[in-house]
Amino acid sequence: AAVGLIIPAAGMGERLGVGVPKALYTVGGQTLLGHALRSSVDSGVVSSVVIAAPVGLAGRVLDILQPPLPRTVNVQVVDGGRSRQESVRAALAVLPENLDVVLVHDAARCLTPAKMFVDIAHAVWSGHDAVVPGLPVVDTLKQVNGAGEVTGTPDRSVLRAVQTPQGFRRAVLERAHNAGAQNGSDATDDAGLVERMGSPVHVVPGDEEAFKVTRPLDLLLAEAVLARRRA
Ligand code: C5P
Repeated sequence: AAVGLIIPAAGMGERLGVGVPKALYTVGGQTLLGHALRSSVDSGVVSSVVIAAPVGLAGRVLDILQPPLPRTVNVQVVDGGRSRQESVRAALAVLPENLDVVLVHDAARCLTPAKMFVDIAHAVWSGHDAVVPGLPVVDTLKQVNGAGEVTGTPDRSVLRAVQTPQGFRRAVLERAHNAGAQNGSDATDDAGLVERMGSPVHVVPGDEEAFKVTRPLDLLLAEAVLARRRA
């Protein structure tokens, strides 16, 4: 089954504080979006890509991709939305008809190894309608109320920090996003919308290098990972 990829890349990256939309920030000679595209295309499983770009920059994001992508991959760009969920929905609307598996991958998880795309696509092909990569949680997490008081400590051993790419049977992802838009939900990941329909989501092992570049310290980590890859 042919695999499409959606890259939500429309975030402003306020927590990163670099003054340009996060996906267009350059680290190790390439934008975060460029790195994310490169590894997804290198995986060999993706035949079509839709990028949700920061509003007003849709015309520019492909110019900055160096070297150009192989012509075997079809790339489209749409304007992103106000939330990540809206950005994914906008991209889903223009995804070519013939694709029945969709991966959704944050531009901010720019150093995700190519193999992760293969693993997630395989998990969907093998029969899971929704697949997310996840890692054990290292911190102890507390639930708090508005007054800053702790109201609970969830058992860490049953928690996973989930990453992207998340993989879906296309019909399931579309149904989940339509339901999400109707209910006015604002999910921070796509699997969350699938869960809200009561549908199963399968977890496979994540990868530490699929971390999300969010805060300034993450840029240092990204530089270090890239330097190690070049060594
Ligand atoms: O803000 P956060 O790091 O959680 O965003 C995750 C991904 O969603 C990023 O790649 C970001 O560019 C994207 N995003 C988007 N549209 C928005 C907000 C975030 O495509 N309105």
